[in-house]
Amino acid sequence: MKRHIIITFTLLLSLLLFNACGNGDTAEQTRNGEPETEEGLTDFELEHGIGPVTERIEISEEIDQEMVTKGRNIYEMKCEMCHNMEGRMVGPQLGDIMEKRSPEFVMNFILNPSGMVREHPVGQELLREYMTQMPYQNVKEDEARAIVEFLRDYAENN
Ligand code: HEC
Repeated sequence: MKRHIIITFTLLLSLLLFNACGNGDTAEQTRNGEPETEEGLTDFELEHGIGPVTERIEISEEIDQEMVTKGRNIYEMKCEMCHNMEGRMVGPQLGDIMEKRSPEFVMNFILNPSGMVREHPVGQELLREYMTQMPYQNVKEDEARAIVEFLRDYAENN
């Protein structure tokens, strides 16, 4: 009788364990139909960030000077108090950011800074290093795009 109970218990336990593993598999299911990587992010998210920009955007080789001016204005109002082009301040330097990250990544960081430091390995690493959380600056998507153009222009001319 006692033995019987032990066997039943062991069976139940292995069923439970089996189930737990099964749940692990569902975590690997897809978001937007793309396969997820180990961190639970899609390949797109890993390379281009997590946020409202979910597709590659069009970037023409020629720099749009009107957009640069618009981007510079927003940058001076909303970014400069924490970022230098050269050298670390509250946040990392941005003069070489377009060589390090994709335009979509930069836009997603501007549009979803808290999500990026919470869920993206690069954001998590940056938060550990800078120990201040970049706030969302109420920047719209077309404004983030203009900032990217301003940063591209800076990188080309410096
Ligand atoms: C209050 C300070 C603050 C303001 C304002 C701010 N940032 Fe940041 N930014 C940071 C910090 C700190 C980080 C590092 C990540 C973190 O700790 O949140 C960061 C990270 C970034 C990154 C990611 C850098 C990388 O290496 O990938 C970009 C891009 C960026 N900021 C752009 C901007 C832009 C553009 C603006 C203006 C719209 C802005 N930031 C406004 C503090 C700020």
